[in-house]
Amino acid sequence: MQIPDIRFLPHPHAARLGIHTLSTVIVIDVLRATTSMLAALRAGCKRVVPCATIRTAKQQAAEWRRKGDKIILAGERGGYPIPGFDCGNSPREFRKSKNKTVILTTSNGTRALLAASHARKVMIACLNNLTAVGRQVVRQKEKRIVILGAGEKGGEALEDTFTAGKLIRFIKSIQPTLHLDAGAQRALNIAETENKDTEAYLCATPHGKALLSMGFAQDIHDAARLDTTRLLGCLSSSGIVAGA
Ligand code: MLT
Repeated sequence: MQIPDIRFLPHPHAARLGIHTLSTVIVIDVLRATTSMLAALRAGCKRVVPCATIRTAKQQAAEWRRKGDKIILAGERGGYPIPGFDCGNSPREFRKSKNKTVILTTSNGTRALLAASHARKVMIACLNNLTAVGRQVVRQKEKRIVILGAGEKGGEALEDTFTAGKLIRFIKSIQPTLHLDAGAQRALNIAETENKDTEAYLCATPHGKALLSMGFAQDIHDAARLDTTRLLGCLSSSGIVAGA
């Protein structure tokens, strides 16, 4: 059996089975964690430290403060900002991250990143930097690519599958012979059939609808913007930093 060049795993529970230490993993949580992380990197933050729990986020904040860093303690639970934190998980809240360390804990996205942290390389992707990520994958001749959706409560989040499909479509347009696994093929099919209005698609997903009902329409609008930057973000030993 041919080993697929690109696999798509829709949520971190699948990651345990599917991520080899030699893999390059691209984590997608378009609504909203990877979009927010990219916003912080674009604003010039030093790093984004992904945390699984509120407790570890507070501990990390104290630790980085002790090291002399200025901190933004950010995150959400159920979509809403965490009481006592500096901000929630809206991309625009990270515009003032310059030279700061952002400590972020979210319901699914930061956990997905941590679930992939044993891989050779972990990058973040969202619609804002989709083509830049695709180009990097092609340029670096990445092998064993796993695209990991953050998902929602252990299940699939359609907006991540859709974004993964768009990324796969770009990579395939340059390397048509790439072999996809069934998940990646399905993501590609979704992106191809839902190719008209990205923002409308995001709004119609269950998580999109939930964000709309909480008053976060602007976040969906910001997340839906395609290729607003060429910036890349990858996981290092100190958190997510700009570059690849
Ligand atoms: C998550 O990690 O589940 C999301 O980013 C949730 C959100 O803030 O919309």
